[in-house]
Amino acid sequence: MKKKVTTLGQFIIEKQADFPFSKGELSRLLRDIGIAAKIVNREVNKAGLVDILGEVGEVNVQGENVKKLDVFADEAFISALSSGGECCAIASEEQEEIVSIENLVSRDAKYVVAIDPLDGSSNIDVNVSIGTIFAIYRRTSLSGCGTNEDFLQKGTELVAAGYIVYGSSTMLVYTTGRGVNGFTLDPSIGEFCLSHPNMTFPEGGNMYSINQGNFVHFPNGVKEYIKWAQEDDKATNRPYSLRYIGSLVADFHRNLIKGGVFIYPPTAAAPKGKLRLLYEANPLAFIAEQAGGKASNGFKRILEIQPETIHQRTPLFIGSREMVEKTEDKMLKYMATEVK
Ligand code: AHG
Ligand code: MN
Ligand code: MN
Repeated sequence: MKKKVTTLGQFIIEKQADFPFSKGELSRLLRDIGIAAKIVNREVNKAGLVDILGEVGEVNVQGENVKKLDVFADEAFISALSSGGECCAIASEEQEEIVSIENLVSRDAKYVVAIDPLDGSSNIDVNVSIGTIFAIYRRTSLSGCGTNEDFLQKGTELVAAGYIVYGSSTMLVYTTGRGVNGFTLDPSIGEFCLSHPNMTFPEGGNMYSINQGNFVHFPNGVKEYIKWAQEDDKATNRPYSLRYIGSLVADFHRNLIKGGVFIYPPTAAAPKGKLRLLYEANPLAFIAEQAGGKASNGFKRILEIQPETIHQRTPLFIGSREMVEKTEDKMLKYMATEVK
């Protein structure tokens, strides 16, 4: 017997019934993100065929080279969110300032969106999985088209968050705070179909993901964790396997399905690590917690960090709960001497 197929659109509408006073704005916002994801996916898939590869020659606000696909994805999401009318401002990794959406339908919209339009840009040219990460907050400003303060909310205030992984297949995974659901794009019908309902981290994960090439710069707690992960101990599934793609979304997604921990630690040179709080750490932390996992900066819950600037960075320890807790134990041991 064939299983019933639930598309992302149907699923969003069904879930809206859980919120009897909802006017459907969040549902429409999620739908708009799904549409932009399909447009970006189309472009990602033909990246090897057309002249979309290579660097544009600009440097983004983080001082990194911007690839053409980063620009394309940024424009695709901003355009979908601007025309949808449910979002009044966007904070994007590719834009130094927030983008206020000044058209008449959007200016009084309820939500703001923080986004990493193209995550894992160093993997674009080499046909390796890349992604998009988004975070949806309720605006706090009372009128107009969004302010910086609308974005400077703790992750505990997130209304919804998700990611798209453009991999061997394309998946959209999101949460509105009631569990995590994953949808796989069926290219033959152009729809995201529910393929991974109620995603949770499995028990007994044995993968760790970290750019171990930087070992010499890691804090002692992380060095000790790595040494511990490499010890031989059958009872705890060690030695662990090291898996590092270099696209946060793809590394996180694998760990969510297989069980594992992703670490981007602080170093003396970069005491805040590399990853961004608003549109990388927070949305994935919300998903991790909703899937029974954990996300920390080594000492503190990611979702409780008060953001001060929109492009702020944070160290990130995220994944299976017990594995993240082990990394925190090691960080705590050296707390007095470590960068915080
Ligand atoms: P982005 O492409 O959005 O700038 O993000 C890249 C990030 C993240 O995806 C990945 O986990 C990390 O950079 C990899 O950094 P290293 O190359 O330093 O390991
Ligand atoms: Mn990124
Ligand atoms: Mn990016």
